[in-house]
Amino acid sequence: MKKIVTVIGARPQFIKAAPVSRAIEGENNLQEVILHTGQHFDENMSQVFFDQMGIPRPDHHLNIHSLTHGAMTGRMLEGIERILLQEEPDWVMVYGDTNSTLAGALAASKLHIPLAHVEAGLRSFNTRMPEEINRILTDRVSQLLFCPTPAAMKNLSKEGFDAFPCQKINSGDVMYDATLLFREKARRPRHVELPEKFALATVHREENTTRHKQLMNIIRGLNDLADQCPVVLPMHPRTRKLTDGSGLPAFSGNIMVIDPVGYLEVLYLLQHCQLVITDSGGMQKEAYFFKKPCITLRKETEWTELVEAGTNKLCGSDPALIMEAFRQFTSTPPRFTGGLYGKGNASAIIARAFL
Ligand code: UD1
Ligand code: UDP
Repeated sequence: MKKIVTVIGARPQFIKAAPVSRAIEGENNLQEVILHTGQHFDENMSQVFFDQMGIPRPDHHLNIHSLTHGAMTGRMLEGIERILLQEEPDWVMVYGDTNSTLAGALAASKLHIPLAHVEAGLRSFNTRMPEEINRILTDRVSQLLFCPTPAAMKNLSKEGFDAFPCQKINSGDVMYDATLLFREKARRPRHVELPEKFALATVHREENTTRHKQLMNIIRGLNDLADQCPVVLPMHPRTRKLTDGSGLPAFSGNIMVIDPVGYLEVLYLLQHCQLVITDSGGMQKEAYFFKKPCITLRKETEWTELVEAGTNKLCGSDPALIMEAFRQFTSTPPRFTGGLYGKGNASAIIARAFL
């Protein structure tokens, strides 16, 4: 029996862990212990995903959140180390690129516990993004690197990983697995009167929510777009903090700002929207899974294959580029061909790699 400690803490990690936990549960020789760092903690940012997606209740909860990068990562490192010494696992598994990911990676590698990284090899080549630092460092100390795309495999090769003592596997993307598992259960958000046609928007990146100018421009872009297509905006708590009484331009009456929704509700919104406008990594891929064009509120993306396929346009926070992308997508809808993110069996590939 091999014991895996899974370290998760933020919304996208719950979604990624759900299909992988299922696959691990299906293997007789694997045992999973779940450690929640506490990074995301509101009911609609954490518990709802455990409930809706049947993720096992965390065995350990550190309750660490709302701190600066250093304080958060440092306190998580200390807490995760304590639990790893107690659990003595064969593997530690981390997901994506958050501070919880890096803390898990550092704790495991300092204790010489083999580390598996799901969503390895992604790069934005923008080292001002906290996520870029987290993913580069995590990849470097991992022994098993599960890449979601051929581009991610290539990034690792270019950085010399073929000569490192590790194994890289093109598993496909676990968020695709999650979409396939749950799309039939998509559920209309309660207490929300959805317009017949709408664009689905989310904003939470540090680069878009720490500088007023950036967010001001995004609000302008969304307001312009909302004149032609109403916008539904489930607002991340980070963005909510900034927009509450901040002197930023008001959202137009055609923008419906709502609280974050659960996974089943976001699947419904993805199914029924006209297009997606986002700075989220996960939502860019989900737009593609649901064959919806995506306006990305960033200057670069880790999911370059979407831009190459013509289904995703990078607009930064520029209102003119946002409107231009909207016009282009409306006048000439992009064509979607499948297969960019694997076959929907990434979780099974990942679980079997531990045997
Ligand atoms: C984090 C990740 C980011 C990921 C995002 C997913 C890092 C560096 N960033 O960003 O990569 O894309 O999660 O959503 O790890 N907050 C609440 N309630 C919550 C969660 C957060 O109020 O349930 C508040 C916190 O108190 C904090 C702010 O939102 O002040 C930011 O939270 P934090 O986890 O630091 O970063 P995110 O922006 O969520
Ligand atoms: N999501 C959700 N409710 C929302 C907004 C997003 O369930 O109100 C889901 C959605 O599936 C998305 C995922 O959360 O892909 C990832 O979240 P986020 O955008 O916060 O993080 P990122 O992918 O940018 O790291």
